[in-house]
Amino acid sequence: MRRAKIMVVDDEHLIRWSLEQNLKKQGYEVCTAGTGEDAIRLAREEQPELVLLDYHLPGINGLEVLQRLKEIDEELLVIMVTAQGGLETAVNTMRHGAYDYINKPFNLDEMSLVVRKALDTSELRREVVQLRSEHKKQGPPKIIGNSKHMKNVLEMMAKVAKSDASTVLVQGESGTGKELVAKYIHYESSRAEKPFVAINCAAVPATLLESELFGHEKGAFTDAKTSKKGLFELADGGTVFLDEIGDMELGMQAKLLRFLEDRTFRRIGGTKMIPVDVRIVSATNKDLLKAIEDKTFRNDLYYRLQVIPIFLPALRERKEDILMLANHFIETFSREFGKSTKGISSMAEKLLVEYNWPGNIRELKNVIERAIILGNEDTLLMENLPLEIIAKASQVTVPLTTFKLPAEGIDIEEVERELIKQSLEMTDWNQSKAAKKLNLGIDAFRYRMKKFGFLK
Ligand SMILES: Nc1ncnc2c1ncn2[C@@H]1O[C@H](COP(=O)(O)OP(=O)(O)OP(=O)(O)O)[C@@H](O)[C@H]1O
Ligand SMILES: [Mg+2]
Repeated sequence: MRRAKIMVVDDEHLIRWSLEQNLKKQGYEVCTAGTGEDAIRLAREEQPELVLLDYHLPGINGLEVLQRLKEIDEELLVIMVTAQGGLETAVNTMRHGAYDYINKPFNLDEMSLVVRKALDTSELRREVVQLRSEHKKQGPPKIIGNSKHMKNVLEMMAKVAKSDASTVLVQGESGTGKELVAKYIHYESSRAEKPFVAINCAAVPATLLESELFGHEKGAFTDAKTSKKGLFELADGGTVFLDEIGDMELGMQAKLLRFLEDRTFRRIGGTKMIPVDVRIVSATNKDLLKAIEDKTFRNDLYYRLQVIPIFLPALRERKEDILMLANHFIETFSREFGKSTKGISSMAEKLLVEYNWPGNIRELKNVIERAIILGNEDTLLMENLPLEIIAKASQVTVPLTTFKLPAEGIDIEEVERELIKQSLEMTDWNQSKAAKKLNLGIDAFRYRMKKFGFLK
């Protein structure tokens, strides 16, 4: 895991020093500041994730520092260090965005615990919730594909985007472009100026998911120190993307169903019914019908969600799209890495088309990125493809890649002669079978047989 960076702000040298030692021992990166002014400057330079901020500082005080830090980075976790009995101060700072507080004098164990808890929670939030308030100017993402399958999908998406049909269910294997479809629908629709909010239902524990989606009122549960809007409220007018919906726990499914029925909800601990206008796009790589049979997914929720169903075919079922996608990614990554790669060698093309792409488009994208980084030629070559692609393709190509040129060099005619000989032996001298093994036409093969004296 990434090492989190922590900034310690205290005017007492000894406290700074002991906190620094202690936090470093636990594997954090640490920087320190003795005044509020220094802290603000350092926050810009070092971009810490968490700040331990003393309230009583010479110069500008803790509360003001807190506000300035939050202006620099709204997500920054600030833990206030306050004097004993300063509960009112502490509460006030939390109102201004401090994550938590701790009283002075504190012991180091207590401090470590508060720090770890804060970092864990924020890590989780960052992983699962991606709030995107990008604006229309970015436009819908480009969706590549010319196969019949993809044409159908594109046509469907265009219709959905224009209509006000509110719920869409996207199904497809991992890496087939489900999230891309969700974004496309959002940015092509009249909702484009409003937020697109994504949450991964599989990565969030059920209890947390409920408060992420619906929000909560202050005091609704132990950790609810302030009231918070949920994603449905934040996305009002826009689109909520519920990823991995097939992993949603049954209790939560019931709550979601209730929300979908009348589009209003209560925050956890709240009494007011809040109406919102959101389009729900959900996605899964699970077979939901089977999940229904297994009683892990609610039948009624399934029908609510899939008012418009979109199925994304696996890449191996639309091989026509492979080279188009590959060329698209070559263009993207060549630009990104400043390379001049344009086309694909015919051997590499063949391998890309033959491979069955269990990781679908994401895998193809990664493979091309790697090849562009490794390659130095104007065309993308077979040797820059990963071994599993070379090995899983037709066997003819395997010896070529495992064959190593000896350091002292070799006469290429000799290699050719040896291959002709082996292919003949392997096929009991059946010329057309032997020719096939070398991917040669029968005439070309017989020409070589003659050349090397196997045929008079
Ligand atoms: N038709 C397409 N044209 C261009 N890029 C695509 C296309 N489909 C997918 N991609 C790209 O492939 C990657 C994987 O797509 P995406 O994240 O949407 O897949 P997913 O179905 O949500 O996968 P998972 O189930 O693993 O979450 C992304 O980088 C996306 O931009
Ligand atoms: Mg996805």
